[in-house]
Amino acid sequence: MTSPSLPGGTWTLGDLTVTRFGYGAMQLAGPWVMGPPADHHGALAVLREAVVLGITHIDTSDAYGPHVTNRLIREALHPYPDSLHIVTKVGANRDQRGGWPPARDPESLRRSVHENLDNLGLDVLDLVNLRLGDAEGPQPGPIAEAFETLVALQQQGLIRHLGLSNATPEQVAEAQAIAPIVCVQNLYNLAHRQDDALIDALAEQGVAYVPFFPLGGFTPLQSSALAAVATRLEATPMSVALAWLLRRSPNILLIPGTSSVAHLRENVAGAGLALSADDLAELDKVGR
Ligand SMILES: NC(=O)c1ccc[n+]([C@@H]2O[C@H](COP(=O)([O-])OP(=O)(O)OC[C@H]3O[C@@H](n4cnc5c(N)ncnc54)[C@H](OP(=O)(O)O)[C@@H]3O)[C@@H](O)[C@H]2O)c1
Repeated sequence: MTSPSLPGGTWTLGDLTVTRFGYGAMQLAGPWVMGPPADHHGALAVLREAVVLGITHIDTSDAYGPHVTNRLIREALHPYPDSLHIVTKVGANRDQRGGWPPARDPESLRRSVHENLDNLGLDVLDLVNLRLGDAEGPQPGPIAEAFETLVALQQQGLIRHLGLSNATPEQVAEAQAIAPIVCVQNLYNLAHRQDDALIDALAEQGVAYVPFFPLGGFTPLQSSALAAVATRLEATPMSVALAWLLRRSPNILLIPGTSSVAHLRENVAGAGLALSADDLAELDKVGR
């Protein structure tokens, strides 16, 4: 494994040091995150390339496939390098039509933690995010019963650190009153800035913010300002979007998804793009 310094350097999640440039494994499953990938060996190659590039943070979930992505990670990378930290999430299942119904009752959460351990081939999960809300986004409501279930599993030694995903600021505060969290993983990118205040508040507390859909997810980011800055810098819009996120706040960790080794390399290189004050000012207007 080579370990060049990746754009953005590192961040510490609890006691775990990770590269701020991570990898989101969701795109490795089949279409709409259901079933196996069309190119099994290609998926393994992407995971192995992530480690070769020096990435030490992989984001996953047993809901991807379901079970497909975690088993690919195990096949590609087990036994894992000590430096590699796999972050998973629990709290949603998959239905026959590819939906993501919530599964946050204590029994479902306990089952999901054990399934993640089995499918990843681990005795302890480094970081588990409790996924809240629904496909429409965060939804208000109490989370104590679900979060306390994960805290109990943490106390049993099955989980090192906890986080939340798809959460409102009130739910973040509710969890923090029960036990420490090391990250929040919510939808955020250049064009979706609704978590700006939450990001700044978490930065002050030393808690990571991990934007999902950093490149727009299933709908690539589109903005004339983004296109203009990319053209001026002779870079791709994806590079500009990732470089902007790294500059947005030091507690932002990137987990862009791709099923392509070439795109993974492009994204790592692109995230290091230098943005001037003028570029940043132009980009800052996009999602406001
Ligand atoms: N907590 C949650 O509820 C939640 C929800 C969604 C996602 N996530 C996590 O967030 C991660 C990131 O989200 P995401 O993967 O859905 O979306 P994303 O990172 O915003 O975008 C991924 C899409 O961008 C394309 N792409 C990536 N690099 C590219 C490049 N250099 N050139 C052209 N196209 C490129 C990918 O296609 P190719 O495969 O062709 O490269 C893929 O279609 C996921 O992998 C998952 O781990 C979490």
